[in-house]
Amino acid sequence: MLHIFLEQRLQDAVRSILPDADISRVLVRPATDTKFGDYQSNALMSLAKERKMNPRQLATDVKAKLDVSEWCDKVEIAGAGFLNFTLKLSAIGQALSGAARGEHLFFQKTTKPRTVVVDFSSPNIAKPMHVGHIRSTILGDSLARILRLLGHRVVTDNHIGDWGTQFGKLLVGWKKHLDKAALEKDPIGEMERLYKLVNAACEQDPAVLDEARQELVNLQSGDETNLGIWREMIALSETQFERVYKRLGIKFDCTYGESFYNPMLKGVVEDLRSAGLAKESDGAIAILSDGKLPPKEDPFLVQRDGEWLANPAIIQKDDGGFNYATTDLATLQFRMEGGTWGAKPDEIIYVTDGRQQLHFRQIFRAFRNWHPEIDVKLAHVWFGSILGEDNKPFKTRSGETVKLEGLLDEAEERALKIVSEKNKELTEQTRLEIARVVGLGSIKYFDLSQNRQSDYVFSWDKMLSLQGNTAPYLQYAYTRVRSIFRKGELQDVGSTGGDISLDALEELALAKHLLNFGLVLEAVAEDYRPNFLCTYLYELSGHFARFYENCPVLKSEGAQRTARLALCEVTAKVLKQGLEVLGIEVTETM
Ligand code: ARG
Repeated sequence: MLHIFLEQRLQDAVRSILPDADISRVLVRPATDTKFGDYQSNALMSLAKERKMNPRQLATDVKAKLDVSEWCDKVEIAGAGFLNFTLKLSAIGQALSGAARGEHLFFQKTTKPRTVVVDFSSPNIAKPMHVGHIRSTILGDSLARILRLLGHRVVTDNHIGDWGTQFGKLLVGWKKHLDKAALEKDPIGEMERLYKLVNAACEQDPAVLDEARQELVNLQSGDETNLGIWREMIALSETQFERVYKRLGIKFDCTYGESFYNPMLKGVVEDLRSAGLAKESDGAIAILSDGKLPPKEDPFLVQRDGEWLANPAIIQKDDGGFNYATTDLATLQFRMEGGTWGAKPDEIIYVTDGRQQLHFRQIFRAFRNWHPEIDVKLAHVWFGSILGEDNKPFKTRSGETVKLEGLLDEAEERALKIVSEKNKELTEQTRLEIARVVGLGSIKYFDLSQNRQSDYVFSWDKMLSLQGNTAPYLQYAYTRVRSIFRKGELQDVGSTGGDISLDALEELALAKHLLNFGLVLEAVAEDYRPNFLCTYLYELSGHFARFYENCPVLKSEGAQRTARLALCEVTAKVLKQGLEVLGIEVTETM
């Protein structure tokens, strides 16, 4: 938070010298080398360069207008025009005690709230949620939480796959091979069995394939029987999805499946055609390159054998059916009109795996051409695959795709074993609760702590380890801090007030790290990378461990004791808040 005050003063100083400068680019960030200070700004160099000014001179002029003496011992000009800020101990102490009193937690709610739609999870009807959906669900939820915490208006939308060619086969299966008892026991399992059965039959026998096509056509043209079955399949699937979301603590503001957009698709195609953006191509309607981008950047071109070939997006098939792309264009238009929440989004975030990159590049480009007047940031936040220990896509022993619910069960079971070994004295109920929080936290954290664009190897041992950058390590760190308060029988330091004195190196390092919590939240929201926050929290626990080892807390006295208690209190708060926006709970004991 202090960096925001410094930034504002620096921006004022820059404005007084260069009234027309874009001061939103004048930023203050943690120093890359703390030898020279706590924060730095390198904005003046690029400003000077653009204006062909001497950067050191500009820095000197700005510094003369800059008064940050409330917070800084010194401001120094370094190199070609960097500004280095060294914080005053009293300013750090004040920020810390403010946080201990609950006045802030080192971040400010934005003064410019954006409306942000987060499109994530989006599983498909009649299929179990598999590990591929886990990344979207966990990442999307975390991004939504962080944006909300920073004060943005967030709308979460689950774009479930409830329409499409799979329903033809499912309908054939349902009508001919349904096992009612199995459906009652495990609806998704039974629907999956039906799909696989008919899918295999279609490969053997073209007559079955025709049958499936016919059922699909009937469904799409409003056949009551087929619509009834389709609705039942949706209801059964949604029950399962709801169960998983409840367990993971995830809520959606809306769940408009693909079918919701059906009535709009015809209009979308007509609109794009009359705007000259879509054309007939081999009986289908397609969006082709507009020729305005360099081929490398053009999503409607693909390079084969050194040649650039057309790579169209089909929005209407030759049989009249519509595609995934058509639905996504309709969805975009619907959202931009304010959806059902009544506000035009400033930003839409789509969280899916990396294989959909081309799809979204095409959709975004087509939408820009279709509605050049609309100002919106469109982001495809994509991620890599989860691999098994053999470095191949994560599968069960028998080669089946791993299902999310089973995975969550196993996480809790494994965590329970560990907790029970460590804490024999806890009641069963407490152990079960800890196992739930640690088990689910481990899966989520392991996923979120990765660079999302990389594949990662799923490892129970690593994610459940009490050492390293894991959920259990952080959750345990939290319980340790909290135990200090139980030992000291102190509720919280907020009420103790009084002077704070920070002198040990470990105290200062911890305090300065705490100050940067808000910066990290902003960086996550900017780059859509919760792993920045994971790294920050992991480092925080490291700072806390070093502090706790070297600085007695309960045995200290006076201003030192106040400071140390405040450090404990605020570390616990930041850990808890940080984990919460990752969708992870904590417990008081472990
Ligand atoms: N249902 C799709 C899938 O499982 C993901 C949908 C993502 N969102 C979107 N607007 N296309 O791959």
